[in-house]
Amino acid sequence: MHKERILRVFSALLQMLLAPLWLPLWILRYRGHALDGVLRARETLVRETWVNARAQRSGLVRVNPFEAFPGLALQKGFLSAEHWGSSHDRVEYPLLTALCAHLRPRWIFEFGTFHGEATLLFARSCPEARITTLNIPGRKDPKLGLDFQQRSELLMEEKIGICFRGTPEASRIEQILLDSADLDPSHHQGRYDWIWVDAGHSYECVCNDSDKAFEMVAPGGYVFWHDFDPTQKGVVRCLTERARSRKLCWIDRTSLVYWRAPGEARPKSF
Ligand SMILES: C[S@@+](CC[C@H](N)C(=O)[O-])C[C@H]1O[C@@H](n2cnc3c(N)ncnc32)[C@H](O)[C@@H]1O
Repeated sequence: MHKERILRVFSALLQMLLAPLWLPLWILRYRGHALDGVLRARETLVRETWVNARAQRSGLVRVNPFEAFPGLALQKGFLSAEHWGSSHDRVEYPLLTALCAHLRPRWIFEFGTFHGEATLLFARSCPEARITTLNIPGRKDPKLGLDFQQRSELLMEEKIGICFRGTPEASRIEQILLDSADLDPSHHQGRYDWIWVDAGHSYECVCNDSDKAFEMVAPGGYVFWHDFDPTQKGVVRCLTERARSRKLCWIDRTSLVYWRAPGEARPKSF
């Protein structure tokens, strides 16, 4: 652990010293997205080294989504090939919704509704899917702790899922207001083709949600996680631990990780 920390500091210092060489190249590489280039360079410099090292040791597999999901078409026009590799925010949700449209799950479960942005994106990408989305009610303190940065995400009940309220998709969305620590996965066993784990980011909460997701996912279904990134230590710790016993895949240049449950998938939704 001590050795790892020394290596990390050494690598950051070295990269900082060499910045005049690589920084202009990064900016050129992301031409048209100069700011993205700078941001990604900064991430590479100060953060990614640690996550990369940890991911590699745990056996987490890095994948290019276009190779892992042949035929993945960015048909919704959310994302074009040239944008691939630009900033996380602009890439992850479009990619996620393209994946959802590609895999066409019938039953979707989301840990962590927040305003319901991802819920609505999933509902729109899969026009026949039924979605269940869970969020802790009101400003209650989660039993398994909350990452400090997430305090502001504890919403008043009327704000949870506000993005999809009143939309045509709302009739296919069921909201559960519950601390995920209290969710009984046996009621949902093997049911969902797609599970999005994105609620509390404390180590205990991510592990609770992930282990429940493993029970709730259908054969051949997918569990996706958000925020596998150096700012989210709880997510990184839990997923690198889980990657020792399951083949977890980290989508290149994103903070998305997924796992495909063994077995044959159900027929697609349409
Ligand atoms: C990162 S936000 C979710 C964002 C949303 N999934 C999206 O992609 O648009 C995390 C949400 O999880 C909720 N949350 C945090 N801890 C929770 C817990 N223990 N149980 C259920 N929800 C929790 C927070 O209130 C917040 O709304």
